[in-house]
Amino acid sequence: MLIVAETVEPVISLRGVTKAFGSHTVLSDVTFDVPKGKTTAILGPSGTGKSVLLKNIIGLLRPDAGEIWVEGEQIVGMKDKDLYRIRRKFGVLFQDGALFGSMTLYDNIAFPLREHTRKGEKEIREIVHKNAELVGLMDHLRKLPGEVSGGMKKRAGLARALVMEPAIVLFDEPDSGLDPVRVAYLDDLVRKSQAETGATFFIITHNIPSVMRTADYMGILFRSKLVRFASKEEMRTSDNPIIRQFLTGKAAGPIGMDEMADSGDIDAKLEDYPELAEADGVHDGVHDGVMSV
Ligand SMILES: Nc1ncnc2c1ncn2[C@@H]1O[C@H](COP(=O)(O)OP(=O)(O)O)[C@@H](O)[C@H]1O
Ligand SMILES: [Mg+2]
Repeated sequence: MLIVAETVEPVISLRGVTKAFGSHTVLSDVTFDVPKGKTTAILGPSGTGKSVLLKNIIGLLRPDAGEIWVEGEQIVGMKDKDLYRIRRKFGVLFQDGALFGSMTLYDNIAFPLREHTRKGEKEIREIVHKNAELVGLMDHLRKLPGEVSGGMKKRAGLARALVMEPAIVLFDEPDSGLDPVRVAYLDDLVRKSQAETGATFFIITHNIPSVMRTADYMGILFRSKLVRFASKEEMRTSDNPIIRQFLTGKAAGPIGMDEMADSGDIDAKLEDYPELAEADGVHDGVHDGVMSV
């Protein structure tokens, strides 16, 4: 059978992106393309620069070297005015949901529409309700963030990230603070909203079961470098010890207890780590997750 590689137009392209804070190089020569209309996840141990990467993509930080293309425009070095325009292409779900504590969920979700559009309250209500419905919050819109659960805050954050109909939705560790079952529910919602909106989803996380459920493509950051960027299937069957160790969550391998204990060898071979070589391939959470649809 002839297998034709799927070619998908990139919506974000990074070329040789490098970022240091003082002598600490956080991202080193990072290059990859985010396929349009798909879900891409970037994984990496804590402190590897995932949030820094995301901030570079939305122009909140500027790389020291390299190019970042968003829908065909190079954003590094852009004037603020143009960066604001580019930022409107993104809906962002920050780690803590970043809701305004003194506003109801309704007002939080309506906020970007009131701030950035001239839409009237009637139209705003329709959009808020449509998105609240999607994330299952219709009965809670009058509540304040402090009165709802962590999972509901995330869902409100997701609804708020979607109201402007962004081309790209960015998630910074959407699973943080949620138990595994709530994460599974949120993942279902991520898949559903991606399918419904057709937007490009870009997720930064270290939650492997969650990535296995949601991502089409994935990249792994380790010691400031992108170890590999490929389809989920290629990553699952990879014999690269860093990828294998990260995806199976084993304590044996090139990734150490902390950055100081990491093996510096990003070209390590699987034979060097017998415990990893014996590990089964990584299972696809879509088929074994109790909560998956
Ligand atoms: N504005 C900053 N100034 C100096 N160092 C920073 C800044 N932002 C992040 N860092 C450092 O960059 C590294 C990566 O951080 P981050 O991207 O937040 O990691 P994570 O992968 O956990 O999201 C950390 O060592 C962090 O201390
Ligand atoms: Mg982070």
